[in-house]
Amino acid sequence: MKAVAVVPSRRSVELRQIDAPRLDSPTSVRMRVLEVGVCGTDREICAMEYGTPPAGCDHLVIGHESLAEVVELGPEVTQVRLGDLVVPTVRRPCAHAHCVPCRTGRQDFCITGDFRERGIKELHGFMTEFVVDDQRTLNVLPHSLRGVGVLVEPLTIAEKAMLQVELLQQRLPWACTMQPGGRQFCHKAVVLGAGPVGLLGAMKLVASGFETWVYSRSDGERQAIVEAFGAHFVAAEEVPAEQLGRELGSIDLIYEAMGASQTSFAAMGALGTNGVFVFTGVPGRKAPVTVDTDLLMRNLVLKNQVVLGTVNAGAHAFAAAVADLQHFVASWPDVVPALISSRHPLERYDQLLLQRTPGVKHVIEVA
Ligand code: BGC
Repeated sequence: MKAVAVVPSRRSVELRQIDAPRLDSPTSVRMRVLEVGVCGTDREICAMEYGTPPAGCDHLVIGHESLAEVVELGPEVTQVRLGDLVVPTVRRPCAHAHCVPCRTGRQDFCITGDFRERGIKELHGFMTEFVVDDQRTLNVLPHSLRGVGVLVEPLTIAEKAMLQVELLQQRLPWACTMQPGGRQFCHKAVVLGAGPVGLLGAMKLVASGFETWVYSRSDGERQAIVEAFGAHFVAAEEVPAEQLGRELGSIDLIYEAMGASQTSFAAMGALGTNGVFVFTGVPGRKAPVTVDTDLLMRNLVLKNQVVLGTVNAGAHAFAAAVADLQHFVASWPDVVPALISSRHPLERYDQLLLQRTPGVKHVIEVA
């Protein structure tokens, strides 16, 4: 079968023929891959910045944002059925007995760093025709999500973040006072960046009752998407990040999804009282930048602020993403599909992985 693979020893990205996987345990499941989303992580792996093939293998099949259909079941599978639409999680636990998160199914908080990730670190990914995984890793989707289910994995980033923000904000009376007969905006959120992670995060915030602004370089297509789901757009050319607070008033939550440290720390200075700043982006290592540490430290203490970093996502976040994606589609039926700018056959991998294509989310259509 065909697979898109990175070969680090040759510094190349290739369409290869590989053996189709077989069921490897009584609880394993064989799936036909339907779609795979392309993200910045994939492009960085293809630029040889990181990415590790499985032990003893010269290549890594990439792709971690997937949507698949169940085609074969091991004899002891009880959690999925033939024909189910599924999204597998990305990270697999490390083997260390003392890693409590991995031993309790929370490998997204692995403490040893020896976790593996499909399509990223030591496990093949989904940019191929068939894959096998244990039933425990699979999240079942309703068939109504066939057209947008590939967005589940990038949405899990926001879901994990928001589950943590809710826990953190139990430190104070944070709930909104409800007006009789309706929901009232009482929290203000700013999303930094209008890529897929930013836009899905902004949808989650709007759906959770936040008055939401998306801060990004001017871009008509993205601004239209943002406004169509009830958020506001702030053009970075017009408002410097450090002035976001002056422009918008006290900000309760900043959700960073741009991977640019200088802008992010400038925006952090605009975070309001009792606010939470969430980092989800992974910046490249560039020259050091200047940050007003006195301002940030004063604010953190005098305004009871929290700074949170979050990576990967566990089972709860996947379940929440499946539920929320249905809710988003019901609320904004034309907007959610518009996040997927284009679909391409596997053979066109090089255009998406090695070049910059304008648009929001690009998807490889395998079947
Ligand atoms: C994926 C996460 C993964 C992270 C770091 C992201 O693109 O969505 O699942 O943990 O990269 O490898």
